[in-house]
Amino acid sequence: MSSELFARIVHERCTEKVLSEEPFPASGQTLADEILELAAWAPFHRPAHDVHLQDSELTALMPWRFYVLDASSCRKLREELLEKDSSNVIKMLATADCMVQVTWLPNPTQVELPEKSLFEATLENMEHLAAASAAVQNLLLAATSNGIRNYWSSGGVLRSPEVFKRLGIPTQEILLGALFFSPQDVQSATIATSKLRDKRGPLSGWVKRVDL
Ligand SMILES: Cc1cc2nc3c(=O)[nH]c(=O)nc-3n(C[C@H](O)[C@H](O)[C@H](O)COP(=O)(O)O)c2cc1C
Repeated sequence: MSSELFARIVHERCTEKVLSEEPFPASGQTLADEILELAAWAPFHRPAHDVHLQDSELTALMPWRFYVLDASSCRKLREELLEKDSSNVIKMLATADCMVQVTWLPNPTQVELPEKSLFEATLENMEHLAAASAAVQNLLLAATSNGIRNYWSSGGVLRSPEVFKRLGIPTQEILLGALFFSPQDVQSATIATSKLRDKRGPLSGWVKRVDL
């Protein structure tokens, strides 16, 4: 692949929230395995802790897990969540061809965590989380290169224990994001983009060349 093509795909990836009150008919679409597999080529420093591998259906060493819902499952989940949520998550579950709940796998906690802490702030956990983030970016770029609109959301209601239970996600995993993959043809839906997209500014704001 040429470096120009790679740069084009990186620039083309863009937050696109495809929002509709009315659910689209379930398209029979999802993400193909060939696209999902590209996520696995992200770097990862250490295997996930054994606690995540024992007695689990998912036994890969990488410190992330992807739970993939096709269009039909997105519509079902939308229906089930309608009573408790009216956020954009509902409007995106109405349009998505696929939604991926991405979790990362923290090491078991050795100390009592301060209130509101999701995990112990160790170097290993930082690296597990970083590796999972790299896997997400691979997937978003792969989707972009296949003409699939995408969006990395914090998840809102999709972080709830009820949704974890419904999707069969172990409670010891932490949601890194809910990724929405939407069709090119957005019919009457609206597309919202990110306010931060154009705020990146020049290299000089975040790169310092260090000459010794
Ligand atoms: C970990 C993570 C969580 C995010 N969660 C949200 C979210 O909940 N809501 C939202 O509007 N954007 C969310 N975003 C998307 C960012 O707002 C977006 O990537 C950023 O503004 C840059 O825009 P761009 O993706 O179009 O380049 C999230 C991005 C990351 C990396």
